[in-house]
Amino acid sequence: RKIIFSAIQPTGVPHLGNYLGALREWKRLQNTSPPSTGLIFSVADLHAITVPRPPETVRQHNLEALAALRALGLNQDRSTVFLQSAVPCHAELQWILSCTASTGYLSRMTQWKHGLFSYPVLQAADILLYRATHVPVGSDQRQHLEFARECAINFNSTYQTDFMVKPEAITACPRRIMSLKAPTCKMSKSDPSDKSRILITDSPEIIEKRIHQATTDSIDGVSYDPDSRPGVSNLLDILAALDPKGRTPAALAEEMSGYGCRELKMVVTQVVTNEFADVRERFQYYMAHPKELADFAEQGRQKAMARAQPNMDKIRSIVGLV
Ligand code: TYM
Repeated sequence: RKIIFSAIQPTGVPHLGNYLGALREWKRLQNTSPPSTGLIFSVADLHAITVPRPPETVRQHNLEALAALRALGLNQDRSTVFLQSAVPCHAELQWILSCTASTGYLSRMTQWKHGLFSYPVLQAADILLYRATHVPVGSDQRQHLEFARECAINFNSTYQTDFMVKPEAITACPRRIMSLKAPTCKMSKSDPSDKSRILITDSPEIIEKRIHQATTDSIDGVSYDPDSRPGVSNLLDILAALDPKGRTPAALAEEMSGYGCRELKMVVTQVVTNEFADVRERFQYYMAHPKELADFAEQGRQKAMARAQPNMDKIRSIVGLV
């Protein structure tokens, strides 16, 4: 049986990279999977407190994340959408997994170098708790997925069980979406410059401005070469990801070889604006109705608990805890 799990950190309204790397795929899976497929999507608020913020900000970001997922069309009829911190089993399993996690592997991971040992273990716990088979994420999360598989193997071999399922990544968008200002870095919520990203709730005017101001280069025409033309290639990656005909970035570049950067930017603006046409209004509606969001979150919590608790009981018994 297929069980899909994924999560997003609540650190502000999601951006185009989150959308193309993950959220759009969540929505697609929700709307196309057979009823037997489990669909579990979390707002990873425990992950988001590794950088301490004022409690009001944490609450606000959780609301924004829930409103964004609602605005994109995720629902509790088909999916389970919940706040990670509302299901205590995540933190409990994180501890249990950290006892069998390979420190050699962890020490080679980027986040460990930044001193966040427990971050990838918590992420592994999120996934393994639901015995997820598939995890739709952007390509920047591959290393974390690999680590989650490693955690499953270590747990299973320590306790001589096959309870933990090794999850597979689903990566819909092969390349990371890059910053509009510094196209050799990924588009990120933590970039101090608003100009580096497009939010899924940005107005058409802002979207136009951001794309218009995106860093490109002074080479004539349009061609696809991420190494030598990162800015132009990023725009082509965005265009290809949203292309109804599914053309590759290279094919699009071929067709637009006579265009200048300005024309390319106009086409990208059009396509991105279309994609997010009704998201802004829907988002504003939910932000103005926090009670609806609270009910939504509570519904998700109950559904997630019903899935998580029996698995957690089993894990405790495998480990020998009462
Ligand atoms: P987060 O919140 O950074 O990102 C959420 C999703 O967006 C994708 N993404 C991108 N994809 C393409 N281009 C980009 N520039 C880009 N930026 C972000 C990410 O790959 C991700 O799919 N640790 C995770 C959250 C998490 C999680 C989990 C994910 C917690 N537990 C369990 C999967 C399974 C994170 O910080 O994602």
